[in-house]
Amino acid sequence: MTLETTQPVAAPAAPQNENLPIPANPNKALWEKGDFTRLAACMRESGDELIDSLGVRAGLDVLDLGCGDGTTAVPSAYRGANVLGIDIAANLVAAGNVRAREAGLANLRFEEGDASHLDALADDSFDLVVSIFGAMFAPRPLDTAAEMVRVTRAGGRIVMGNWIPGDPTLIAHLLKICAAYTSPPPEGFVSPVTWGQEDAARERFGAAGIAQDRIACERATYTFRYAGTPREFLTIFRDYYGPTMNAFEAAEKSGRRAELQTELEQLFERENRSGADRTEIPATYLKVTVRK
Ligand SMILES: C[S@@+](CC[C@H](N)C(=O)[O-])C[C@H]1O[C@@H](n2cnc3c(N)ncnc32)[C@H](O)[C@@H]1O
Repeated sequence: MTLETTQPVAAPAAPQNENLPIPANPNKALWEKGDFTRLAACMRESGDELIDSLGVRAGLDVLDLGCGDGTTAVPSAYRGANVLGIDIAANLVAAGNVRAREAGLANLRFEEGDASHLDALADDSFDLVVSIFGAMFAPRPLDTAAEMVRVTRAGGRIVMGNWIPGDPTLIAHLLKICAAYTSPPPEGFVSPVTWGQEDAARERFGAAGIAQDRIACERATYTFRYAGTPREFLTIFRDYYGPTMNAFEAAEKSGRRAELQTELEQLFERENRSGADRTEIPATYLKVTVRK
């Protein structure tokens, strides 16, 4: 099975002397490239339902990792939790803080950070760590699992949502298609969708000290809703979603743009469960729950 997906562009070579600029973080560049808020706007209902199902309530300290502009962080704050959203993309952190301010949510703040390296956060700080299609994209998955466990209090939970390799539904399949049009990832790159394999998730949290009977994995569904046709919805991915933008750029260079467009249109049409003028696409993911 090919797992290469959403690879950042290869990191530039290390600078030869200290006067050269520090190379950009390719993971950060990928997610700052577009405007994920355009896509996040189509995911709000599922975010709200998920937070509802987790029993988030006043008094809980919640960390949302790879939070984007707050699809799950905002509903957590509406339920009264004290919420910190961490994301690697500065534009999404800014967008999240605007949403928090406009909603008058003084119990919600967003900061820049890397899920695999949460230096600024003390051990045992959160009752709930949520990461929905977020921390899965961080490099060094073992470090990421260890960091999530470290900042969670004894008796607390970690809930991760991860796209599943080989799954035929929207995002997993879109990432697979996009990967086929972009250049191979740098050596040592670990595909984000390995987090969608139960064995890998268990192994990573196991390595972070969690007993296997405290890890639960189940398939769950996130639904994308858009007030337009599936084809129009695809333009949001093409114009604003980093991994798809990269695939279109690569396909353009190799003269395969039309082929990529057709392949994705067929996927979006096939997965749509709504009438022709609207889009409602359920996508399957692996929900991993860890009890510390
Ligand atoms: C698919 S989006 C999901 C955003 C949000 N959780 C949601 O459900 O709308 C992936 C998010 O992970 C963030 N991300 C990627 N790599 C990260 C890292 N190493 N540390 C923190 N966030 C990261 C991206 O910037 C982006 O906001």
